[in-house]
Amino acid sequence: MKTTIAEVSRYVGEEVTIGVWLQNKRSSGKIAFLQLRDGTGFMQGIVVKADIGEDKFQQAKALTQETSLYVTGVVVEDTRSSFGYELQVNNFEIIHEAVDYPITPKEHGTEFLMDHRHLWLRSKKQHAVMKVRNEIIRATYEFFNTNGYTKIDSPILTGSSAEGTTELFHTKYFDEEAYLSQSGQLYLEAAAMAFGKVFSFGPTFRAEKSKTRRHLIEFWMIEPEMAFMDHDDSLEVQEQYVTHVVEAVLENCTLELEALGRDKAVLEKIKAPFPRISYDEAIDLLKEKGFDDIDWGEDFGAPHETAIAESYDKPVFIVNYPAEIKAFYMKPDPERPEVVLCADLIAPEGYGEIIGGSQRIDDLELMQKRYEEHDLTGDAYQWYLQLREYGSVPHSGFGLGLERTVAWIAGVEHVRETIPFPRLLNRLYP
Ligand code: 4AD
Repeated sequence: MKTTIAEVSRYVGEEVTIGVWLQNKRSSGKIAFLQLRDGTGFMQGIVVKADIGEDKFQQAKALTQETSLYVTGVVVEDTRSSFGYELQVNNFEIIHEAVDYPITPKEHGTEFLMDHRHLWLRSKKQHAVMKVRNEIIRATYEFFNTNGYTKIDSPILTGSSAEGTTELFHTKYFDEEAYLSQSGQLYLEAAAMAFGKVFSFGPTFRAEKSKTRRHLIEFWMIEPEMAFMDHDDSLEVQEQYVTHVVEAVLENCTLELEALGRDKAVLEKIKAPFPRISYDEAIDLLKEKGFDDIDWGEDFGAPHETAIAESYDKPVFIVNYPAEIKAFYMKPDPERPEVVLCADLIAPEGYGEIIGGSQRIDDLELMQKRYEEHDLTGDAYQWYLQLREYGSVPHSGFGLGLERTVAWIAGVEHVRETIPFPRLLNRLYP
C-alpha cells in the first residue's frame, strides 16, 4: 500500500510504502533511527539489523542527508513522539542519492540560509511556517465565503497609485507608464458597489527602503471592502476574522505550532472583541511610558507600536489618526475633521501593525478636494471619482498583511521566513 506520512494513522499494524527524503539519522551497532519527511509530515523509521539483514543495515547506516527513497515498513503507534506513529522498516530502495547537502543539522547564518532558500524550505521549521501560512489562507477563504463575500481579483499592473507615490515600482506598459499594485483597494471599492461585500487576496509591491523584520518588498494582502458598512462595522469584521484565523491555526496546526515552539496558551487568548484606543490615547500612553520623541500629528514607528502593544495580550486597534498622516481616501470624523475614521490593528508581542483600514470618503466634492491636495490629478483617477457620482454609499474596508500575520501567529521573528521566496531590499535571489 503506497501512502503518505499524513495518512499513516489509517494503517496501524499494516505494511505501507512511502516516498521520503532522509532528514537526519543516528545509529548504534544494531539499530538505526531514520528521520524521514515526505512533504506531508515528519516521521521516524526504525531499522533493526536483526530483521533487515547485515547488508541492508549497513546501507541504511550509510544513507546521506536528503537522499530520496521508498521505504516499506509496518506502521506502529509511538506514544513518545508527538506525531504518534513510527515505521518499522522492512525494506527501502534508494531513488536518488544526495551528496554533501549544504544545509547540515548544525547552525548556519541567516544569509547562507537565505541564499539556499530553495533548499531551506525543506527544514522542519520552515515547513511548519508555510503550513501555518497555508492554514491562514484557507481559513481566510472560509471566513469570507461563509459570510457572503465575493472574491474579486484586482489588477497587478495599474495606471495609478493607491497608497502614495513614493513607494511605487515603475514599469513600461507599451508606451504608457505603469506601476505594480500597492493595494487593490481602489478596484475593490468599485467592486463593492457591484457586489456588496468583496475581498481580494493577492501580491502587492512596495519599493520601501526599509530593512526591518516587518518589511517585505513583495507581500500578500487580504483586502475586504464592504458597502453600507461604517468604520465600527468594519472593526467588528476585523476582530471576527482575526479570531477565526487564530482558532483555525490552533485547531489544524497542532504539530506545526509545537515544531515552532509557539505557546498555544498565548494564542488561545485571542478572541473578539479586541481593545480599542484612540490615537490621542496612544500618544498619552507613550508619554507615560517615557517616549518624548513623539508628538501629536506624527506617525508611530516600530518601537512605539511595540510599547503600545505591551499593555495588551490581544491585538489592539488604534483608531482615528490625524488626517494629515493617513491616505487621501479616508473619511474625516464628522465631529472632529482633523482626524479620520481609520484604525491600525497592532499585534501583541512586538509583531507590529497587521491591519490598516478605514471608512472611505463617499462624498464626491470632498474626494475631489483631497485629490487636489494630494496632487493626484489625471485620467487614471477619473473612474474612482465616478464611484461617488452614481449612488454613492458609506463603505469601509481594510487590508491584512499576510506575512506579518503569519509571523505573529507562528511566533517567527522576521517576515522573511513567512513567505516562500522573500523579496527584500537586497534580495531577488533565489
Ligand atoms: O496599511 P496599508 O498600507 O493599507 C493599505 O494598503 C490599504 N489600501 C488596505 C485597505 O484598506 N484595503 O497596508 C495594509 C497592511 C499593513 O497593516 C501590513 O500588515 C501590511 O499590509 N504591509 C506590509 N507587510 C509587509 N511588508 C510591507 N512592506 C508592508 N506594508 C504593509
